[in-house]
Amino acid sequence: MAFSKVVSLPSLFLAISCLLLPFLLAFSEAHSHSYVPSSEHIVKGLSLSFYETKCPDLESIVRKHLKKVFKEDIGQAAGLLRVHFHDCFVQGCEGSVLIAGTASDPSEQEALPNLSLRAEAFEIINDLHELVHSQCGRVVSCADITALAAREAVYLSGGPEYIIPLGRRDGLTFGTQAAVLANIPAPTSNISHLLASFAAKKLDVTDLVALSGAHTIGRGHCTSFTNRLYPTQDPTLDPIFADDLKEICPEKNSTHFTMLDIRTPNRFDNKYYVDLVNREVLFTSDEDLYTYEKTREIVESFAEDQELFFEKFVHAMIKMGQVSVLTGSVGEIRANCSVSNSNNPSLVSVVVEEDYETAAEL
Ligand code: HEM
Repeated sequence: MAFSKVVSLPSLFLAISCLLLPFLLAFSEAHSHSYVPSSEHIVKGLSLSFYETKCPDLESIVRKHLKKVFKEDIGQAAGLLRVHFHDCFVQGCEGSVLIAGTASDPSEQEALPNLSLRAEAFEIINDLHELVHSQCGRVVSCADITALAAREAVYLSGGPEYIIPLGRRDGLTFGTQAAVLANIPAPTSNISHLLASFAAKKLDVTDLVALSGAHTIGRGHCTSFTNRLYPTQDPTLDPIFADDLKEICPEKNSTHFTMLDIRTPNRFDNKYYVDLVNREVLFTSDEDLYTYEKTREIVESFAEDQELFFEKFVHAMIKMGQVSVLTGSVGEIRANCSVSNSNNPSLVSVVVEEDYETAAEL
């Protein structure tokens, strides 16, 4: 097993060493169980207690703020979860997707697959970053804030609570438009493309099916799925569901959107897999998980057993969240998540920055 599922707080205390205790106590509002990765699944340089002394309230600051944000608009949870995926798949989980570009120097954000990322998600990450830095100094990376925000998005939408390794550093540059296109799979992707794309990140077939379960929350725009409606209707689509989609998207380029999970659109649960079994999902990339025999078995098992889905989802998220991370002295801790430090006019020099980081560590 990749991690232990801890059923109650007393058994949690027995199972985890004293070192982790203060960290775990931060989860005073925990569901009845939390998922904890075991040490062999944590990459070198990351740790479960990374900010224990540098920023002990980090996780409660993030949770408290996001609770307020999601109370206003639960859709933002989906936006944050997707940003973490798009960050990790291009140059690794090092916050490169957060950097804003310019007309002459377009960033990852301007690449086609990222145009439907929610602008608010970047603002929320910047707000969190500012909040955390006002309390702890510039010690927490934007990449870690993004990973924590995704984790909270899952938990606060009704999904599993889990603990993630921290200690990521921020990348210095963003990826090219070509790198985004090559690494973020399109919704029109078929199963072999999806499997290859995930395998390139060392994510296996179960990880692919489990991570696609993130489509239990959030929305999709017509242009992401009208390939299945026009000019010919995809025979794998449930016909009544297809008629509903045609009403929402009367033509190929309609600018409307609809929810990804028709059963419980804002709740993180296993209903996406029930949608799949009923051929009521939006994208070819979703549908193919049911059409292909090997993934169909996994889909069916998740549709029947939500706990199993949660377990595999957490395992896969922890894996995805550690793809090509920067650790130690590689990269930087950005002062502003939208700008790398070398382009940040408010930072006087790299020397000042290093002094700042060292001082904050003391
Ligand atoms: C398996 C390959 C995947 C493909 C092809 C894919 C594709 C897409 C597309 C096209 C959208 C809708 C964009 C729009 O039209 O607005 C979307 C939404 C979303 N995706 Fe994925 N996705 C994949 C995997 C993932 C993974 C691994 C995660 C996270 C772990 C994820 C999380 C989300 C979320 C939460 C939304 C809703 C976003 C919102 O409401 O703003 N997706 N995805």
